[in-house]
Amino acid sequence: MPRMTPLSPLSDPRGDQASSPADASGRASDEPTRWGAPAHTAAARPDACDELAAQTTKDTMSPDLSSERMTYIVGQLEDPPGDPFTLLEAWMRDAFARRDSHGDLPEPTAMVLSTVAVGADGEPVPRSRTVLLKSWDADGFVFYTNRESAKGRELARHGSAALLLPWSPLQRQVRIEGRVELLDDATSDQYFASRPRGSQLGAWASRQSWPIASREDLEAAVSRESARFEGADVPRPPHWGGYRVAPRRFEFWQGRPDRLHDRFAYEPNADGTWRTHRLQP
Ligand SMILES: Cc1cc2nc3c(=O)[nH]c(=O)nc-3n(C[C@H](O)[C@H](O)[C@H](O)COP(=O)(O)O)c2cc1C
Repeated sequence: MPRMTPLSPLSDPRGDQASSPADASGRASDEPTRWGAPAHTAAARPDACDELAAQTTKDTMSPDLSSERMTYIVGQLEDPPGDPFTLLEAWMRDAFARRDSHGDLPEPTAMVLSTVAVGADGEPVPRSRTVLLKSWDADGFVFYTNRESAKGRELARHGSAALLLPWSPLQRQVRIEGRVELLDDATSDQYFASRPRGSQLGAWASRQSWPIASREDLEAAVSRESARFEGADVPRPPHWGGYRVAPRRFEFWQGRPDRLHDRFAYEPNADGTWRTHRLQP
């Protein structure tokens, strides 16, 4: 039985540390940039929205981003281990350590999930959104969602997906590609039962990805579900559950100076081991 690696629950981003983290180049995130004062500084003031809107119209209609760049000097990746899970575990540990030490990587388990939709013309259309990684083992990477959402429908139709863990403060990214399968009901039930009650009610109230007329309509739907389950545990909705991405390819990327980054891809051998090779940056 492969070992499940549960992920520790995330604490709230800590405002005290998050307010002035220094990035790897030593530039503090609340220093003025070429865009002017950082948005979070302006957004704290009551007139911020109008000001930001005006600034957007005035300055950022066609922004020149050509000189936005940083030097990647934080680390290197030499002689990676033979097993991608070993490297991922080490990097995930580093990501949590970074969150705890600097606060600038608030959600180490947030990953971009890309699926394949079908456009009106029948052509495949890639689509991406963020989900939270909740566990992994040798069988794959688990996330939870509404199975009738856009992504749920896309996965039902085309069961390949790509995951991206963007750990920018560490100048790292991990890419994972694979086939997607439904997680078994017992595991989905167990995870659903561990969620806060408000999230459980939300899973019943929200037809994720479908249009709704107003915020009030959404809140009314939550109130109805809250009344329906008053005094009782909230069961997992049949349309909500887990998915597992069974990996067929990994890629680990570590930024290096002069854009000569370290990249290693892993692909599976027939006997269950992995072969790895360095890729040009
Ligand atoms: C940091 C972050 C974490 C998220 N985690 C989840 C998640 O675990 N599950 C989920 O269904 N949506 C999550 N979302 C919302 C999704 O990005 C997305 O808006 C939603 O799932 C609907 O996507 P879809 O319409 O493509 O199906 C998260 C969003 C963010 C920004």
